[in-house]
Amino acid sequence: MDNITTVRLYTFKVGVELEAYSIETKTEQETIVLGNRLSQLLKPGNVITLEGDLGAGKTTFTKGIAQGLGITDVISSPTFTIIKEYQGVLPLYHMDAYRLEFSEEDLGFDEYFAGEGVSVVEWATFIEDFLPEERLDVKIKYQDESSRIIQFTPHGPYFKWVMVELSHTHF
Ligand SMILES: Nc1ncnc2c1ncn2[C@@H]1O[C@H](COP(=O)(O)OP(=O)(O)O)[C@@H](O)[C@H]1O
Ligand SMILES: [Mg+2]
Repeated sequence: MDNITTVRLYTFKVGVELEAYSIETKTEQETIVLGNRLSQLLKPGNVITLEGDLGAGKTTFTKGIAQGLGITDVISSPTFTIIKEYQGVLPLYHMDAYRLEFSEEDLGFDEYFAGEGVSVVEWATFIEDFLPEERLDVKIKYQDESSRIIQFTPHGPYFKWVMVELSHTHF
């Protein structure tokens, strides 16, 4: 990790199975490309969680997912609405749980998570109890003004496959 500026891709290995995979994006556009690539691998009922500080790039990554799903609407952070729905090749349910930190409120998450669309959840730890076991956790870490480390942690066989596919991304 100390050599992150010289090592573009690095992995964490447990046995022969990768437990997580990290990739560096050097521009906002690369983060969008990565989200776009991920969207090509998704199917109905898939859940992606996004963690990272304010300004890390969660919404930017979601823009890439939306773009890949053929959604032309402008994607903005749904902080005040909590859930925004977009129609694309698959519906996209874009959620931001930031305002639910001290709330037990269930906004019908199960129906979204098991629905026809793809759910992307920013600040997902605030609704941890509602999250399905099978999901892809994505952590975005700020490196400097234009560089981010994006780490994928898959839960379940489908997302392990997705992670391996994502590891072949070239910008
Ligand atoms: N490599 C990068 N990936 C994503 N965003 C980046 C990158 N470099 C710079 N940025 C900038 O960081 C900001 C990320 O904002 P946003 O996606 O709204 O963050 P969040 O939703 O995590 O609060 C944007 O202004 C974007 O242009
Ligand atoms: Mg955001």
